[in-house]
Amino acid sequence: MPSKKKKTFPFERVLITGGAGFIGSHLCDRLLGDGVQVEIIDDLSTGSIRNVEHLRRNKNFDVTIASILDEAKLAECVDRADAVIHMAAAVGVRLIVENPVRTIETNLNGTENVLRASFKKKRPVLVASTSEVYGKRQDVPFREDDDLILGASRRPRWAYACSKLMDEFLALAHWRENKMPVVIARLFNTVGPRQTGMYGMVIPRLTAQALAGQPLTIYGDGLQTRTFCHVTDAVEGLVSLLSDEKIYGAVYNLGGVGEISIRDLATLIIKKTRSKSKLQFIPFEKAYDGDFEDMQRRVPDLTRINAATGYWPKRSIEKIIEDVIAFQRGKRPSK
Ligand SMILES: NC(=O)c1ccc[n+]([C@@H]2O[C@H](COP(=O)([O-])OP(=O)(O)OC[C@H]3O[C@@H](n4cnc5c(N)ncnc54)[C@H](O)[C@@H]3O)[C@@H](O)[C@H]2O)c1
Repeated sequence: MPSKKKKTFPFERVLITGGAGFIGSHLCDRLLGDGVQVEIIDDLSTGSIRNVEHLRRNKNFDVTIASILDEAKLAECVDRADAVIHMAAAVGVRLIVENPVRTIETNLNGTENVLRASFKKKRPVLVASTSEVYGKRQDVPFREDDDLILGASRRPRWAYACSKLMDEFLALAHWRENKMPVVIARLFNTVGPRQTGMYGMVIPRLTAQALAGQPLTIYGDGLQTRTFCHVTDAVEGLVSLLSDEKIYGAVYNLGGVGEISIRDLATLIIKKTRSKSKLQFIPFEKAYDGDFEDMQRRVPDLTRINAATGYWPKRSIEKIIEDVIAFQRGKRPSK
């Protein structure tokens, strides 16, 4: 499906929560490049100031190092902005499994704070959600109004999906009850330069292993599939969703096209890096703990976002891997 519609960005100053993170920092690049003033609020828990170091001299760029759990600091930042892009969250499978309390508190209380502060000042908000909310469904592609199948609460992995799902409910509740302008992006696996493998992101982790000549560790049998999206495409999608108030009040899948198994992904990474590394399969119980449960497939249906904004991803899985390799070869992965 080709991209047709393109809207000019209607805001002069945007607050990006989690703006020192992987996707947030690319959003900064994109909006500053268009002459938009950008402020970020970030506690640098999984993000890094190195991700935005190159922007520090830009007069249109401001940084507040604080948590979105600090309501007073957050409110000051929201006051200064015309719109908010809410990216800050506890992210990454490893972090979620190892720090479930932090995950839940950041994602629930943080989003509650962002929405409350934005509501007070009548600021439009884009909330970043996740394809994890589809849970264990296997009947791909996933559509936004599909029923969701989540795992048991004794498995910490599902805390991420549930907390993000509550963020969606809360944002939509503000839309319905308070006529607050909100829009929700359900991001599917987003990849590119600056992403770190430290918290369980598969492509930067496998690429780093291949470049180091280490075995590429695959959790489970590697037949689980994912659909990856280049961060540059994802950022275009986010900007286009915020650009048109007429399409607010809804959830939009935002991701790539082309499903690939983790085993094929690892083989492709070995080919692209010309590595002599081998594949090493690790049972999930060893990688995480006995209570871990994975999702077998994940493919977005992009019909809704395409109809609303013209969004269509342009970059292939090959391009995604090449860009991650170039980044990791060029400098040490940040954080
Ligand atoms: N990368 C993906 O594949 C993907 C997929 C689905 C959804 N998402 C969503 O996109 C958003 C950004 O993810 P990312 O991949 O860039 O991860 P990231 O970890 O790089 O970015 C998250 C940022 O939020 C910051 N942060 C965390 N807690 C905070 C707090 N309490 N106060 C202020 N800042 C805080 C972190 O320091 C980091 O900079 C998240 O909401 C995530 O759930 C990402």
